[in-house]
Amino acid sequence: MPPINNIVILTGAGVSAESGIDTFRDGGGLWEQHRVEDVATPEAFARDPNLVLRFYDMRREAIQTKAPNAAHDALARLDAAWQGELLIVTQNVDDLHERAGAKRLIHMHGEHLNAWCTGCDTRMPWTGPLLDRPACPACGVAGLLRPDIVWFGEMPYRMEDIYHILNRADLFVSIGTSGAVYPAAGFVREARASGARTLELNMEPSQGSHWFDEARHGPAGVLVPAWVDEMLG
Ligand code: NAD
Ligand code: APR
Repeated sequence: MPPINNIVILTGAGVSAESGIDTFRDGGGLWEQHRVEDVATPEAFARDPNLVLRFYDMRREAIQTKAPNAAHDALARLDAAWQGELLIVTQNVDDLHERAGAKRLIHMHGEHLNAWCTGCDTRMPWTGPLLDRPACPACGVAGLLRPDIVWFGEMPYRMEDIYHILNRADLFVSIGTSGAVYPAAGFVREARASGARTLELNMEPSQGSHWFDEARHGPAGVLVPAWVDEMLG
């Protein structure tokens, strides 16, 4: 088996589930509580900004009460110890990977704890509410701040950087994602086309399970530390 130097790890909502953050499509998940069209699209924000801002204010507040779990801790341990290239691409908008200590990390769907001024295009850390339409600290204009979250129909962030390392990966690992949403759901095929080995760690088979060389099913809090121990020997 050829040596593994470059690793790309994709994480989804399942990696934060054991920290008490709702996933999107599991029973009782976020999209069963809210219609995507009402809270996670640019049209929704234009139609009813208060509904959207209230939705994200609640989630922004909620995630600050959560803590990283064993899966986040194990990935941070691998990030710190791995001598080759390594990139964690997360679809999640919580900050649990960072709080566990991960450094080589890209948030392709944005971050709950950031705000984006649609007036001056500045992105900034933001932990408080946006519902009261505060003034942008950069340009001073009120009512133009939105969550720095990629909504359905918008382009995910840093796709060029992601494909650049994905096309050099020796190993692609997908953790806690249903494989329902593109472009993330297509990463496994990109990695295979570049000759990478592919591994899925998920509670149950994802929509793309058949594309993986190997799939292990169970909680990320158990599977990920065991896999990291294997990688670090
Ligand atoms: P997509 O076509 O990439 O995703 C398709 C899947 O997303 C569907 O199978 C369904 O599971 C879900 N979906 C999309 N639209 C939906 C809807 N109206 N109602 C219910 N489920 C819906 O979606 P897209 O519009 O091309 O998304 C573009 C990008 O925005 C993607 O990268 C996506 O992941 C991202 N996004 C981010 C968030 C967030 O909360 N961070 C929410 C939605 C989408
Ligand atoms: N351990 C491992 N996997 C888990 C766990 C767990 N403890 N709990 C749930 N899962 C798995 C589920 O089996 C499911 O396959 O995590 C996956 C969660 O899937 P989704 O809820 O669809 O979340 P995700 O794949 O991250 O959604 C992708 O869709 O709405 C958009 O942009 C949003 O980033 C999100 C994207």
